[in-house]
Amino acid sequence: MKTLNPLFTKSLNGSITVPSDKSIAQRAIMLSAVASGTSFIKNFPLAGDPQSTLNVVSKLGVQVDIEKTATGNNLTVLGKGFEGLIEPSEVLDVQNSGTGLRLMMGLLAGNPNGLFAVLTGDESLRKRPMKRVADPLRKLGAQIFGRQNGELAPLCVQGRSLSGGSIETSVASAQLKSALILAGLNAQAPLTVKELETSRNHTEIMLQTFGASLEQIDSLTCRIHPSKLIGCEINIPGDFSSACFFLVAGLIVPNSKIKIANVGLNPTRTAALEVLLSMGGKIKTIKNASQSTNTKTESTGDLEVEFSSLKAIEIKGSIIPNLIDEIPILCLAAAQAKGTTIISDAQELRVKESDRLKAMFKLLDSLGVKVQEKPDGLIIEGSDGNPFEPKGNIFEAGHDHRIAMTAGIASLICNKPIQLNGSEWANVSFPGFFELLDKLSNETS
Ligand code: S3P
Repeated sequence: MKTLNPLFTKSLNGSITVPSDKSIAQRAIMLSAVASGTSFIKNFPLAGDPQSTLNVVSKLGVQVDIEKTATGNNLTVLGKGFEGLIEPSEVLDVQNSGTGLRLMMGLLAGNPNGLFAVLTGDESLRKRPMKRVADPLRKLGAQIFGRQNGELAPLCVQGRSLSGGSIETSVASAQLKSALILAGLNAQAPLTVKELETSRNHTEIMLQTFGASLEQIDSLTCRIHPSKLIGCEINIPGDFSSACFFLVAGLIVPNSKIKIANVGLNPTRTAALEVLLSMGGKIKTIKNASQSTNTKTESTGDLEVEFSSLKAIEIKGSIIPNLIDEIPILCLAAAQAKGTTIISDAQELRVKESDRLKAMFKLLDSLGVKVQEKPDGLIIEGSDGNPFEPKGNIFEAGHDHRIAMTAGIASLICNKPIQLNGSEWANVSFPGFFELLDKLSNETS
């Protein structure tokens, strides 16, 4: 149990960096593993999800040399090509990582050597839906078995060369889209993947860096041609989703000014920025000029935020997949804004690391915020900048890193200390989160 003290009159001021992007990191280690030749990954994060994916890749016989640095690790990965992976003698445990499990399903289902593997995760991941990935892969010929006919891990995958053709996703999910694209790398013919809504495109960008032949046909559709990957160098920027906790902290704690350097600003990830700007947030984006015009690389830049009076907004529709991970912290911004914020079309939040709609309802309700839960969202009445008045003093992170961190930011503007059970879940994406928060507030006291 961690005690979180309010800041009262103190502000947050300073310049920070956040851990590197876990979505990009997990793709980087997987693609390096199946590429031919050596890859160099700079700033591989120490967070739980990327580390568990790295561990799984090692169990497939891929040698990874690690140079430790203060902020992350630099990895040298001796890629084995698809044919060089070894059949793992142990279960592959990706722990809390949905990206690790779902992308591995695609990568292994299309393995041309008939490699057999069992994939599993922690208590939270073993409850999350996997049929959305298993079913379309099976349509391409994949052999995947699991509890409830492939809905729940542990899952067994027997690799084989899959058919190409075309396939449409039934859920707006980058994990699902990516699993299909990865399966297409070894298919017998090109595979066209059409997604329901535009979701993050890190897989598409990175595959091109590794030399794959991928055509972006329109904003929803891409075609992957059977391709060999060649080792390359990947430099991972800061995670925008992690930066967002400090963006909202800067916006809601009076007199704050925070700079966050070297953040990934891929437009399929940064819809939360548009939302916060529309709410009246004072946020400056300084894009790294050399990258901003090239759609085949990840754009990066610095963010500067200062305390702002926020107003309510409606969040719904096709923007949702591009801010899916930021909704918990956006709810907190809404709870401090003037007016009523309505979030709709966000039912996917119910099948994340926890049911995040329920978790945010509970958190906001116990902070004294007027909030209603809908099947696909929340209705939040903002306090117009007034401090939260918690009803109780114990908050539960519920196995969910983003809920733990949202509670951490909320504590800054409570009118009394609160206790957080499960603060260590922040380590899944952001080791050192609470220490950084302390440092930023101490620097300004
Ligand atoms: C991710 C995609 C999103 C996101 C998750 C990471 C990815 O999940 O919530 O944190 O790396 O592709 P869905 O694709 O299931 O929405």
